[in-house]
Amino acid sequence: MNIVMAASECAPFFKTGGLADVIASLPKALASKKHNLTVILPKYRSMPSEIQKQLQFEGSFDVWVKWRKQYCGLFSYKQDKVKYYFIDNEYYFNRAHLYDEPDDAERFVFFSHAFFETLQTLQLIPDIIHCHDWQTGLIPLYTKARVYQHPVKTVFTIHNLKYQGVFPLSIFHELLHLDPVHMGGLELDGMINFMKGALIHADWITTVSPSYAQEILDPYYGEGLENYLTNRISSITGIVNGIDEDIYNPQSDLNVSVPYSRNYAGKKENKRVMQQELDLNISKDVPMFVLISRLVEEKGLPLLTHILDELLSTETIQIIIMGTGEACFEEAFHSISNRYPDSCRFINVFHEGLAHRLYAASDFFLMPSRFEPCGLGQLIALRYESIPIVRETGGLKDTIKPYNEFNGEGNGFSFTNYNAYDFLNTIRYAIHLYYQPTHWNRLLKNVYKSKLNWEHSASCYEDLYNMLLQVNEEENYDHDRRQSKSVTEREAHLIIR
Ligand code: GLC
Repeated sequence: MNIVMAASECAPFFKTGGLADVIASLPKALASKKHNLTVILPKYRSMPSEIQKQLQFEGSFDVWVKWRKQYCGLFSYKQDKVKYYFIDNEYYFNRAHLYDEPDDAERFVFFSHAFFETLQTLQLIPDIIHCHDWQTGLIPLYTKARVYQHPVKTVFTIHNLKYQGVFPLSIFHELLHLDPVHMGGLELDGMINFMKGALIHADWITTVSPSYAQEILDPYYGEGLENYLTNRISSITGIVNGIDEDIYNPQSDLNVSVPYSRNYAGKKENKRVMQQELDLNISKDVPMFVLISRLVEEKGLPLLTHILDELLSTETIQIIIMGTGEACFEEAFHSISNRYPDSCRFINVFHEGLAHRLYAASDFFLMPSRFEPCGLGQLIALRYESIPIVRETGGLKDTIKPYNEFNGEGNGFSFTNYNAYDFLNTIRYAIHLYYQPTHWNRLLKNVYKSKLNWEHSASCYEDLYNMLLQVNEEENYDHDRRQSKSVTEREAHLIIR
């Protein structure tokens, strides 16, 4: 299959969150199944210079954004059998930040038009166009609005429903090359909503875990789009993310001080090095907890700030929090780490190498999210043999099974309700089991066995694409037959589907 993905970030080129890791690893996994994978991305300023030097200039063309005629350069880069194309326009993408610019609507409308110009320039005929998150939300609609000689199906993946790409209604006439008949499909509460457009027009919608696919039908998680999602219920699938086990590998990771794998003594050496590095008491036996996250409310940080004092004053543990984000959380963590200098550290930056060392050093990884479409932190933690303590929501619920002392099953700890004391009690229970070698060893064995790579999930995407193309073929067949005969019931069903 010719699969073309459109996304707004991809590691190692540029990253603000988990989306970048997925776009770095899913295409690679699909390419290894012998499909042709092309990924089209904006070319932002933050691309590392050593990669910039290796880019190949493929040419340039004009892209119209209503009355504005804009230059568009096209660069390419090949890695792991995946072909990456970068859309170059200094005015739109040579900025300090990837998003949250006042002209985001115009920047991603330009990107959407440039996406189609790129296909045309390369004479690339996709079978599947797979778009990710709101920045690419207009592409399914533009795909429909274009007349394609070749049938193409669109898939739209929701990585986080909270971020929808919401802009004033005026951009419809100002920026979008669309007949006014399409305004209704994009409008929500008097605004243009890119995500809504994708939910209505994509041939299929996926979310990054089965539980999140269910949850977002409910107003609590639906972010105002639950009715549109419910209307598409028969075309939504949840497929859990994997991680690239070559990149996240405690045995070959150059960031990790002492390489290890399935060897708790080796892991404890990393704890000792980290205690030294952060000037904490050196002790192999004290349980070490880490939280590595964007510091925003949805990550469940209010639960942590609520119980941290009580936890640190009653338990002998070490806790390290790393990340940047909302000022209220940064202040709370600064203040608490000042009050508990022997047991708490707050690292108020995000540093990839140090993050890997923290995964390697820790015994427990905290992720009490209020909602979590998939979550990669808990998967990386499992890979580095740090036991996740999570709230049972979205992908956390699908990937972490709570340890059960009676049958020895489970690869972490979890709690159901979004409640600070349920979180605290779960942490206490985890500490209790940490000191019981029989349970602890069983738990570690289950962690070692957790399936974390893309193998299964990439096959699920492959099946989905095949199913869509199958429907396509049947539709075409049906279209031909309709010229002469009436459609049979089964074929009619397929068309509706
Ligand atoms: C978003 C979600 C996160 C998910 C990631 C990759 O960042 O918040 O849960 O793991 O996208 O799909």
